[in-house]
Amino acid sequence: MGNNEKRNTFKGSLGFVLAAAGSAVGLGNIWRFPYLATKDGGGMFLVVYLVLALTFGFTLLMTETAIGRKTKQSPLTAYGALNKKWRHLGILACIIPAMILPYYCAIGGWVLKYLLGYVTFNGSAAAQDGYFNAFISGMAEPLIMTLVFLAAVVFVVIRGVNKGIESFSKILMPILLVLVIVIAVFSITLDHTDDSGITRTGMEGLAIYLIPDFSGFTLEKFMTVLIDAMGQLFFSLSVAMGIMITYGSYVRDDANLNSSVNQIEIFDTAVAFLAGIMIIPAVYVFSGREGMSASGPGLMFVSLPKVFDKMGTVGEIIGALFFAMVFFAALTSAISIMEAVVSSLIDKFSLGRTKAALIVTAITAVLAIIVCLGYNVLYFEAVLPNGSTAQILDIMDYLSNNILMPIVAIGTCILIGWIVKPETVVDEVEKTDTKMGRKGLFMVMIKFLAPIMLTVLLLRSLGVF
Ligand code: PHE
Repeated sequence: MGNNEKRNTFKGSLGFVLAAAGSAVGLGNIWRFPYLATKDGGGMFLVVYLVLALTFGFTLLMTETAIGRKTKQSPLTAYGALNKKWRHLGILACIIPAMILPYYCAIGGWVLKYLLGYVTFNGSAAAQDGYFNAFISGMAEPLIMTLVFLAAVVFVVIRGVNKGIESFSKILMPILLVLVIVIAVFSITLDHTDDSGITRTGMEGLAIYLIPDFSGFTLEKFMTVLIDAMGQLFFSLSVAMGIMITYGSYVRDDANLNSSVNQIEIFDTAVAFLAGIMIIPAVYVFSGREGMSASGPGLMFVSLPKVFDKMGTVGEIIGALFFAMVFFAALTSAISIMEAVVSSLIDKFSLGRTKAALIVTAITAVLAIIVCLGYNVLYFEAVLPNGSTAQILDIMDYLSNNILMPIVAIGTCILIGWIVKPETVVDEVEKTDTKMGRKGLFMVMIKFLAPIMLTVLLLRSLGVF
C-alpha cells in the first residue's frame, strides 16, 4: 500500500473540479436526462432533480471525496483504511468500474464512428434506416473503433494525474461547455413546417421541457418521478464506484472541499439541463411529440442523425459539433473509470502506473471485444427484470448500475453514518478552516434518508415493486 509519500495531487482546485466534472458529465447527461425530463412532466422533474441534487447528491459526493482525501487511498484499500472489517466493500467498489469500462469503451467506439462520419461530411448516411444496427452488428468496424477509444483513454491515464487527467480535463471541459451552449442556442431558434403543413418552433419545444405538466398527476406518478430522478442523479454524479474516492485522494489538503463539491454539482447539473435545451426543441421541431420518446442509443444514434439530416447542410456541421461534444464527455468519463481501477492496483500492489494501466487495458480489451461480439456471433436475447430485452452490454450495465452501485452506496452510508461516524467527513471538510455547509442536513441524510432512499431504488431495480 505504501507509496503515500509520493502520491500525485491535482495542482489546484480547478483541476480537481474539472476532472471530477469530466467524470460526472457523460452519456447519462446527454441521452438520459432530457428523455426523463420529457417523460416525467418537464419542469416537475427538473425541480425534483434539483432538490435531490442539493440534498442526496451533495451527501454522496461529499462523502466519497472526503473519504478519498482523508485516507489518501484508492477505493480498493480506502474502505479498509477507515475500518478493517469493511475492506470487502472496497473490492466491490473496484469491481464496478472494471465492469463498466469495457462497455463504456464499446459505446465510446460508436460515438467515434459517428464523429468520424460527420467530420468527413458523410453524416447523412447515418440517417438511413437500419444504419446503426448494421454498424454495431458488423465484425471489424465496431471492434476497431472500440479499441481506438480504449487506446485514447489509456494514453491519458498513463500520462498521470497532472499531465494526463488534470490537463486534459482543463482543455476538454471548457470546450464541451461552449459546444453545449452553442448547440442549445441553435436548437431553440429552429422552426420547421412538415409535409402536412404543421409548423413547430424550438420555443414550443423549450416550453414542453420547462413548464411543469401536472396533468394526470397522482401520488404514484410522483413516486415514479422521484425514483427516476434519484437513479439518474446517482449515475450522473459518478458516485458509488470509487471514482470520487480516487479523485478525492488526489486533492490537496489545503483545498476547500465545500466549494469544490458545489462546483462539481453545478457543472454536472448545468450540462444535463443544457442537454435538454439542446435535444428536446430540435427533436420536437423535426419529429413532433412522438419523436421525443427515444432515449439512450436509440436517441443518439438513430433519432438525432435523422434530425440533423432534416436540417440540410447545417445539420452536418451541427452533427459534427454534437458528436465532438459527446466524444469529449465519454472520453473524460472513461478516463475516470480506468483511473479508479489503475490507482487501486498501484496502491494495493505497489505497481508502476504504466504497468498497472497496461494490465487494466489488456483485460478491458478482451471484455470489450466480447461486448462488441454480443451484437454479432455472440448475439442472444435475455430479458431483464424491468422487461426489456438485453444483450451482453445491457446485462453488464444492469448489474453494475442497478444492483452493485446501490449496494456500495448503501454500504458507504452505513459505514460513514454509523460505524466511523459522519464527523469523520465533517472534520475532513473543516480541516481547512471552512465551516461545512448544510451540516445538519448532511447528518440526517447520511444516517437515515440516503440509505432508505437507496434501498428503495435497489428494490425497484430488482423488480420487487
Ligand atoms: N456520470 C456519467 C454520466 O452521467 C457516467 C458515468 C458513470 C461515468 C459511472 C463514470 C462512471 O454519464
